[in-house]
Amino acid sequence: MTTPTTTPGDVRDVRLAREGVLRIEWAAREMPVIRRLRERFAREKPLRGVRVGACLHVTTETANLALALRDGGADVTLCASNPLSTQDDVAAALVAEYGIPTYAVKGEDNERYYRHIRAVLDTRPQITMDDGCDLVATLHQERPEQLVDVIGGTEETTTGVVRLHGMLKDGALKYPIIAVNEADTKHLFDNRYGTGQSTLDGITRATNVLWAGKTVVVVGYGWCGRGLASRARGMGAQVVVTEVNPVRALEAMMDGFQVMPMAGAAEIGDIFVTLTGDINVVDRHHLERMKDGAIVANSGHFNDEINIAALAEMAEARRQVRPFVEEFRLGDGRRLYLLGEGRLINLAAAEGHPASVMDMSFANQALSVEHLVRNAGRITLGVHRVPEEIDHEIARLKLRAMGVEIDVLTPEQEAYLASWQMGT
Ligand code: ADE
Repeated sequence: MTTPTTTPGDVRDVRLAREGVLRIEWAAREMPVIRRLRERFAREKPLRGVRVGACLHVTTETANLALALRDGGADVTLCASNPLSTQDDVAAALVAEYGIPTYAVKGEDNERYYRHIRAVLDTRPQITMDDGCDLVATLHQERPEQLVDVIGGTEETTTGVVRLHGMLKDGALKYPIIAVNEADTKHLFDNRYGTGQSTLDGITRATNVLWAGKTVVVVGYGWCGRGLASRARGMGAQVVVTEVNPVRALEAMMDGFQVMPMAGAAEIGDIFVTLTGDINVVDRHHLERMKDGAIVANSGHFNDEINIAALAEMAEARRQVRPFVEEFRLGDGRRLYLLGEGRLINLAAAEGHPASVMDMSFANQALSVEHLVRNAGRITLGVHRVPEEIDHEIARLKLRAMGVEIDVLTPEQEAYLASWQMGT
C-alpha cells in the first residue's frame, strides 16, 4: 500500500504506526549510548543539512539510530537491507509518526527491494550507511554520476566489508568507507552476543524446538559462529563446529566443541546453522546425507549459504508447515526443514539482535558519520577502521550506563608501559 502521509515512502500499512512507536520506545530504554548521542546531536547539529541514505534492517533499533541522525540535522532516507528483515510497524511509525522517508516492506520481492534502494539513491545521498553493501554497489553500478556528491559511507556487517574490499581491489570503490563492523565495540558484542542470542531466538520462535540434547552444527566459527556455539551449548545442545580456517577450527576445539568436516556433521546434526558469509556451505551432497527431520537455517547476511535450489530439486514435495518453516519431502521419505527461506533467521523469524548490543553498533554508525562529515574531503579513499577514540568512548559510555567503574593506569604504570629499559 502506498503511504498516505506527506512523508514519502513505501510501507505495508501506516495503521501499524502506533504499535511501532511503542516498540521503538521500548528499544530506546536499552540504548543509553544512542540516547546520549541523540541529546548531543540535538544540541550541536553536527549533521545539519547532510543527506544520509541508509540501507539497514528496518527494526526498532534502526529507528532509534535514524532519530539520532535526524536530531543531528541530517535528512535521512531509509530502505531495507534484506527483503525479510523489516518490522512493518517500525517502517510505518518512521513514515507516519517521525517523518523519516522509509521504503521497506517485509517479504518484498527482489524487484521491490531494488526499487526501494533506488528510491534512496534518488535523494542523492552524501553519506551512505549500508548493511551488506547493496546500496553502495547499486550506486557505483547504476548512478556513477552521483558519486561526486558523496562524502563517504559506513558499512555495518562482515559480508559488506568483504564486498567493499573486493571493490577496492578492483579499483571500483570511489569514496571512503568506515567499516563499522571492525570496531571492537561492534563485532565483539553484536556479532557474538547479538547473533548468538537472536539466532537461537529466531529458530526457537519458528520451530519451538527444545535445544537440550540436540546436536547443533554451527557452520563457521567467526564471531557470529562463536556466539551461537556458546549459546547453544548453554541451552544444553551438543555443538559441532565446521570450519575451513585452521586457526578458528583449533580455537573451536579448545573452546570445547567437536570439530569435523561438513560431510561428517551432515550425518549427525539435528539443527544446522550457517554463519560463514560464503556460498553453498550446506551443499547438495550435505543435504543428501542429512537425517529425517533435520532443520537447516542461515544466520549469515545473504540467502546463498544453503543450496536451496538443490534442495528444491531433491524434493518430491514441499509445503509450508508453520510460518518460516518449509518442509521438503525427499524421494526416500526423509523430510528436511528449511527456515525463513534461508534468509537470516534472527531477523526473519525474530526481532534481530537485542537493543542493548545494537546500542553500541549504532553508536559506531552515528559517530562514524559525524567523523566523515567533520573531516569531509580529508579522508583517503579506502575501507577504514572506526577511529580507536570512538571505539573506546563507546565502551566507556556503555560501562557508565551499566553503572560499572574501572581502574585507570597510575603514572608509574604508564611510564613502565612506555619504557623498555626495565627487565627481569
Ligand atoms: N542486525 C541484527 N540485528 C539487528 C537489529 N535489531 N537492528 C538492525 N540491524 C540488525
